[in-house]
Amino acid sequence: MYAQMVKTDGTGIKSSEQMTPEERAFQERIDADSRIEPKEWMPAGYRKTLIRQISQHAHSEIVGQLPESNWVTRAPTLERKAILLAKVQDEAGHGLYLYCAAETLGISRDEMFEQLHSGRAKYSSIFNYPTLSWADIGTVGWLVDGAAIMNQVPLQRTSYGPYARAMVRICKEESFHQRQGFHIMMQMAKGTEAQRRMAQDALDRFWYPALMMFGPSDADSVHSAQSMAWKIKIDTNDGLRQKFVDQTVPQAEYLGLTVPDDKLAWNADKFGEGKGGYDFSEPDWDEFFAVISGDGPCNAERLGARVKAWEEGAWYREGLMANAAKQADRQPAQAAA
Ligand SMILES: [Fe+2]
Ligand SMILES: [Fe+2]
Repeated sequence: MYAQMVKTDGTGIKSSEQMTPEERAFQERIDADSRIEPKEWMPAGYRKTLIRQISQHAHSEIVGQLPESNWVTRAPTLERKAILLAKVQDEAGHGLYLYCAAETLGISRDEMFEQLHSGRAKYSSIFNYPTLSWADIGTVGWLVDGAAIMNQVPLQRTSYGPYARAMVRICKEESFHQRQGFHIMMQMAKGTEAQRRMAQDALDRFWYPALMMFGPSDADSVHSAQSMAWKIKIDTNDGLRQKFVDQTVPQAEYLGLTVPDDKLAWNADKFGEGKGGYDFSEPDWDEFFAVISGDGPCNAERLGARVKAWEEGAWYREGLMANAAKQADRQPAQAAA
């Protein structure tokens, strides 16, 4: 989701006999649910895959601020401005925890930024869609943060300690984000006919991009199987998408909105059997692959905004470095005095 297309490093899952003694001991610790910490031995593939996953997640938090910060000044009341501002600041905090977690694996923050700014690193496809109305801000909180919770709650049990711990705090904040979005939608659903139309229009545009957030079906993927064996990934993309639909459809009904899917139907027979979840239409995966590879409605704008912020912040970074050098120069003199 926030890390939708993480290529797993490694050559597929090895049997216990194929593993080196170190690899076997590592896998046994993972199987016993113990946490791996930064200085401990880990397979190179585990390290690389985690760097990819955590940095993709961090980039998503940072780029994810853009479609919403755009609305801070246009939020309808002072209270809504304050709430939205707090949420956008939380997302910056999420990005920072996650960059820190990735740094413990041996990549520098500069390298991660370089990968983002050059377009080599991915971030969640959802943030390449525009937020056109105030109802879009409600829908983003409701669906996008809702999907984030769905994906991130299980990651609190992920095998890498710094990532799992970052997720605990992030999940608490995501719950607030989801509630504030749903609250905006409740107000609009109770509002005028024009407000209800805006709410429906936002759901129509964001429903399928929200389903794409979980990534394509990974049932047969070797990469996913390895990531799941390492407990970097806890649930399958399809499993999470199903949970999300099952949770969200009753919320849409409560709001009096229609999920834009003719095929949507509860799948249970008269004995209460069946899959016990909704059948639903898949999103357009061609659109997903186009957006994730840089060809969505706002990719150029989002990346452009990040690059501009980086370039305009150069004087500040230089100032910090100059100050640090000055402090370091002074220290021997102070020690001698
Ligand atoms: Fe977040
Ligand atoms: Fe959030």
